[in-house]
Amino acid sequence: MDHKKNYNEQIILITGAAGFIGAALSQYLLKNGAYVIGLDNLNDYYDINLKKERINQIENSILNSNGKWKFYKDSLENFYSLEKLFDENKPSIVVNLAAQAGVRYSIENPQAYIQSNLVGFSNLIELCRNYGIEHFIYASSSSVYGGNVKMPFSEKMSVDHPVSLYGATKRANELIAHSYSSLYSLPSTGLRFFTVYGPWGRPDMALFLFTKAIIDGKPIKVFNNGEMIRDFTYIDDIIISLDKLINKPPIQNKSFDYLNPNPDESWAPHAIYNIGNSCPIPLLKYVEELEKALGINAFKEYLPMQSGDVKATFSDTSKLEKFINYKPKTSIKSGISKFVRWYRNYYKV
Ligand SMILES: NC(=O)c1ccc[n+]([C@@H]2O[C@H](COP(=O)([O-])OP(=O)(O)OC[C@H]3O[C@@H](n4cnc5c(N)ncnc54)[C@H](O)[C@@H]3O)[C@@H](O)[C@H]2O)c1
Repeated sequence: MDHKKNYNEQIILITGAAGFIGAALSQYLLKNGAYVIGLDNLNDYYDINLKKERINQIENSILNSNGKWKFYKDSLENFYSLEKLFDENKPSIVVNLAAQAGVRYSIENPQAYIQSNLVGFSNLIELCRNYGIEHFIYASSSSVYGGNVKMPFSEKMSVDHPVSLYGATKRANELIAHSYSSLYSLPSTGLRFFTVYGPWGRPDMALFLFTKAIIDGKPIKVFNNGEMIRDFTYIDDIIISLDKLINKPPIQNKSFDYLNPNPDESWAPHAIYNIGNSCPIPLLKYVEELEKALGINAFKEYLPMQSGDVKATFSDTSKLEKFINYKPKTSIKSGISKFVRWYRNYYKV
């Protein structure tokens, strides 16, 4: 990725900085001149060592030796320590990537989602309001499309039929953010990410689980008998999109059509974008590419559909493309081979 842009010492708070996307964004912004304040509670939803290693990566990066990186191990739920962080650092931009992620885990552990994604999110946005944040960007998810079956998924569609608590909390985030934008003119942007993958990725997600199982000679669990389609999005495409969005906060829309309100638009400075590859891939094709990259054939255990899951995701990214003049484009062949190279090197397998 190019590292040309200068953030001119902007102070950017990134929550979930030890996470997959947060760590990649923190590194990118530090290399491009921002002051980055990272926050993460390093919870044990998955391997904490991987989270710590991501932080080490940021800290070892030569370009941030000049005190432009600060890390806070804390939870969004702790309003008063979060307030202290805002007070000490006075960020101008906040990117909220901290959340309890994962669809399947939300079936067994609803409380984790209520706490991080609702209580934590509400604390953060309240502080964004109090501290006059210039742009609040937050991670939503393709999961908000829930029961929609018409493809591709467009921001114009109604998203009122969530099929998992995870999806419901992400939709709630969008609604809360809209209300803050409307009430307090807080410029905010919600990003519906579509299955993000790549080096330093999440151990609870399919690519990681499949790679580990195939290398260990164990069967991979293929849900819905492989009848699944996913719009897989490579991490660099997400980071480039975020880079292009950070300094483009939405503005009030004076020509909003109140009589025919489009779910895609608002009078308030609030916007929502899909960020996906717009190129859905059958799950078994994805596995085939992984087998090729690893040079090993997978044993497949075919299983029924899991509750909360959806059969297909497919993003319409024309709105994003129009706004930032960029379209995620990494092919799965190239993305998977970069992931496999990282995985083998990191785990020495
Ligand atoms: N990776 C994807 O495919 C994907 C798809 C759609 C949406 N998203 C969303 O994007 C964001 C980032 O995802 P990711 O893949 O990097 O996930 P991740 O789990 O790797 O990162 C989230 C980080 O947030 C931290 N965290 C969780 N709850 C917290 C809390 N209450 N306080 C402080 N820290 C907390 C975790 O320790 C973790 O390091 C999340 O909001 C996720 O829901 C991700």
